[in-house]
Amino acid sequence: MSLDFLGNLERTHLCGTLRAADAGKPVVVMGWVNRRRDHGNLIFLDLRDRSGICQVVLDRELTPEGHVRGEQVRPEYVVAAVGKVRLRAADAINPKMETGEIEIEATELRVLNDARLAPFSPAEDAIQNEEVRLKYRYVDMRRAEMQRNFRLRHEITRAIRESLSKQGFLEIETPILTKSTPEGARDFLVPSRVHAGEFYALPQSPQIFKQILMISGFDRYFQIARCFRDEDQRADRQLEFTQVDLEMSFPRREHVFGVVEKFLSAAFAAAGVALPTPFPRMTYDESMRRFGSDKPDLRLPGLTDVRPAFTNDALATLQIDPALPVVALRIPGVGELSRKEREDNHPLFDQKKGAKFIDDFKRLAKSFPESAAKVRELTSAAEADFVIVVAGDPAHHIKASDTKFEGRLSEREINVYAAAGNFRTELAKKYADRHGAFRVTEETVEAAHAHGGANAIDGAIDGSRAFHPIWIVDFPMFEYELASAKWVPAHHPFTAPYEADMANLVSDPASVRADCYDLAMNGLELGSGSIRIHRKDVQQQIFASLGISDDEARKRFGFFLDALEYGTPPHGGIALGLDRIVMLLAGAPNMREVVAFPKTAKAIDLMAEAPTTVTEQQLRELHLRVALKS
Ligand code: AMO
Repeated sequence: MSLDFLGNLERTHLCGTLRAADAGKPVVVMGWVNRRRDHGNLIFLDLRDRSGICQVVLDRELTPEGHVRGEQVRPEYVVAAVGKVRLRAADAINPKMETGEIEIEATELRVLNDARLAPFSPAEDAIQNEEVRLKYRYVDMRRAEMQRNFRLRHEITRAIRESLSKQGFLEIETPILTKSTPEGARDFLVPSRVHAGEFYALPQSPQIFKQILMISGFDRYFQIARCFRDEDQRADRQLEFTQVDLEMSFPRREHVFGVVEKFLSAAFAAAGVALPTPFPRMTYDESMRRFGSDKPDLRLPGLTDVRPAFTNDALATLQIDPALPVVALRIPGVGELSRKEREDNHPLFDQKKGAKFIDDFKRLAKSFPESAAKVRELTSAAEADFVIVVAGDPAHHIKASDTKFEGRLSEREINVYAAAGNFRTELAKKYADRHGAFRVTEETVEAAHAHGGANAIDGAIDGSRAFHPIWIVDFPMFEYELASAKWVPAHHPFTAPYEADMANLVSDPASVRADCYDLAMNGLELGSGSIRIHRKDVQQQIFASLGISDDEARKRFGFFLDALEYGTPPHGGIALGLDRIVMLLAGAPNMREVVAFPKTAKAIDLMAEAPTTVTEQQLRELHLRVALKS
């Protein structure tokens, strides 16, 4: 079939914008054939462009040539339709379409390009096979849902840029070809052609550069920054991703919070969601105690301390460690679970935390009726709520540091809370779809409010569009790594300790709190940041307490340590995952839905077919030889 030229034809309207008020107007629209219906003398084309779809009618009597073209086109052909907007007959109005009251009576149809038949059509709503979607990403992204996601991403990014610019932040780009950064994941390396045997690293974040920009006196920096980390991928983790990265001079953490709350509520407003500020704050310990997580999902009921429901004798019989937390989680509205159903849930419990659970309440009630009743009372369980008790298991004492500092949780306690917290979120995922349990209800929203003024929710938005940000503060500075028997930084090593805790750096590392903070929302870590170390002596002390030798520190961060000596202001900042923000607002289950050309879980770009081998010549130029293990 011959194709037509565009010639001097000019588009006058986008398909999805035409309305009844346009009736009578001459129009030229261009786009893809979404669907075609052939009724003999009349052919109907649903024409699609990025704005939406409108119906084009090719009447054999009105345009015999256009009608022939209409017979030839197939889905996804690219066409231009010339004609006039007219109102549809009353019985042909389609209330489901935004343009459903009108159609275009065509006088000409030009076929600008044909199209091969893809394995799926963008007109379909849900395409199951993600690999096929990723391979034919150009077709996939024509789907209305994907078009919406990327428009949303644009609006969010624009709102963030505008808000930060208004707040006095300067957007500055930092290098992509650089040196290893301190975020702790594996680096992507790029071999240097000019310097044989040497490598650049792609940045895991702009961390060091943004700190140097503060030394350079820029005072407030931001960047929508691409970051690269060679780590295992998950629903909310890609090899390359985008951070809203910022740094400011002379701030206290409240100033950083204020900046973030402003730009994030602007971003949410751009997506039509009210996000009242200030966001609630909670200490790390409290978040572990109440939710068993440092990124709590405030939409779900929290954990309840049910230790008072058990006597020491009861705990001994139940083989529960009396010195560790005994907590309950509640799954609203699922009713009594059958034995089979309970057993199906067991693999969702993390066995490696030294904790156990009781989910057979009938049995518990037989031996300890008072305890069972008290647990239900303490958790305010309604008749249809299912309750599970999680506690320390003396038979599976994991190795953990027993160090406990005044007023802080020990690692063993944290582990029990974490086991309960993980179980809570895993069960939430499972039951949310099946029973609507764990869905946001008035009750959980109120509970969230009670937990520190979490956000009121716009009544117009449905439950699943409820967003609950929360700042988590007072993280421990160090975590004890059993494998290496070393204290390792909980954040990167440029995070400042609390001034009041500095004296304990060497003597009591576990007691030192870091002046760092996370922003969590609906169970996701959205962002992470800290007040930084700005003095060289403190930085050296931190390296020393982490067991990083002077030599190693010089080798890895020498240029930065030098820079610190040239007049460094107190500074701090944060980075938020842009993809995660968009993912939440798009209601997407996976980051790949909001990234144009993502990698699969196996780190492959199925469309571009990357990674690939390279030629011998390229390897030679880069002074490389590939030695594959057979
Ligand atoms: P952090 O490593 O916590 O901190 O990263 C900050 C935020 O970036 C997002 N993020 C990711 N998103 C998608 N895929 C990934 N692989 C991925 N890794 C991280 C998360 C996370 O909260 N330089 C520090 C920030 C600072 O201290 O200012 C940093 O990068 O949303």
